[in-house]
Amino acid sequence: MEKYVVEGGARLCGTVEISGAKNAALAILAATILAEEPCIIENIPNINDTSVSLKILKDMGATVRLLDKNTVYVDASVLTSPMVPYEHAKRMRASYYYLGSLLGRYHKADVSMPGGCNLGVRPIDQHIKGFRALGCTVDIVQGGIISARAQELVGSHIYFEISSVGATINVMLAAVKAEGVTILENVAKEPHVVDLANFLNSMGADIRGAGTDVIKIHGVKHLGGTNYTIIPDQIEAGTFMVAAAATGGDVLVSNVIPKHLESISEKLIKAGAVVEEYDDAVRVYRHGPINKITLKTLPHPGFPTDMQPQMVAMLCAAEGTSVITESVFENNRFKYVDELSRMGAHIQVDGKIAVVEGVPKLTGAPVKATDLRAGAAMVIAGLMAEGVTEIEDIYHIERGYEDFLDKLKMLGADVKYICKPDLDMPEAL
Ligand code: UD1
Repeated sequence: MEKYVVEGGARLCGTVEISGAKNAALAILAATILAEEPCIIENIPNINDTSVSLKILKDMGATVRLLDKNTVYVDASVLTSPMVPYEHAKRMRASYYYLGSLLGRYHKADVSMPGGCNLGVRPIDQHIKGFRALGCTVDIVQGGIISARAQELVGSHIYFEISSVGATINVMLAAVKAEGVTILENVAKEPHVVDLANFLNSMGADIRGAGTDVIKIHGVKHLGGTNYTIIPDQIEAGTFMVAAAATGGDVLVSNVIPKHLESISEKLIKAGAVVEEYDDAVRVYRHGPINKITLKTLPHPGFPTDMQPQMVAMLCAAEGTSVITESVFENNRFKYVDELSRMGAHIQVDGKIAVVEGVPKLTGAPVKATDLRAGAAMVIAGLMAEGVTEIEDIYHIERGYEDFLDKLKMLGADVKYICKPDLDMPEAL
């Protein structure tokens, strides 16, 4: 059994360099199959989710070469098996981006229903609505495969009922080579949506308005190769910012786009931290107490749902009672609070609202990472706690954070990875 062991008490101090954005990388890797020439992508985070996506590309027949730890060459000009089987799709949510890109390339896509973090019901009705508007039939067929087909893709005017990152990206991927103009309204404005649009434009696409509520796509016939650098990861940066504030530390979080971090900085400042902004870095430190705050997760530019668990971990030790509203996902996004309670936190959850009554200290305990960001929250809680916290199910964390323990150790954290034989396993003969 693999675990992280965190000895609490260290103040995080120093500089940490942020890796490329997971969610941008996953969209962009899927988009490489729209190019009829090779692409070189730099600043790809070396994490389990990107490994799965590269495996999907290889299994389809693309040539994939790692030029260095964070640079990948993808030549998807010839694909021998353009589909995504269950064994890959179950491992991450973003496998469904191959629906959009395969449709864009071949007008035909077969992708197994996606896995990913269990954050409650995660429907894909808006993706399907978008594909259908472009002229596709979409069915769930034998074996849980989403099967989409089109004679041709024709531009359309699509209004999303919900601002969905996944639907915006997927429909953009399908529409980029459609005949005529596609207008997408009420789209997601997250930084990774903009990064994907920039990537596609660098391949020769004509996409305007990414980052606003309306995206306009003039379909093009051909997309070529490109050399592109992925943006820094907003959520990894936010996680280290919260870890710095939570431990009363002083950390320069470098290689970031501070504009992407504004909603996180604002809440950290309210909670008593100091956040200094530089061109491509933010410095976070805290000397006084952690203040209680109110916080509601919202689509970008609001406070990201992917930072909610880390923030709650910090607020467990605030002076006073904080109120957190999860408005993006269902209350499964609070599943991890039971784990924080094991460490002495006082949290009441009622539907989409968590009431966090600050306690003077957390105490180390064995806990589980219930999903990716909840896992990061457990690490932050462990750093703040008195004693030792052992975190199980760390595969969730390793899906999304590059060199997490090494980066924490460089900042002075006492964290280690251990792999113990599982006591439930029969002994090898
Ligand atoms: C993406 C991110 C995830 C992040 C989330 C919200 C990736 C790979 N994952 O997930 O880390 O937490 O954005 O910022 O980029 N919805 C529908 N119908 C749909 C699509 C979505 O009802 O067709 C709902 C979802 O259930 C959820 C909300 O819309 O309640 C937002 O989901 P969405 O933005 O699509 O999240 P993901 O793309 O799954």
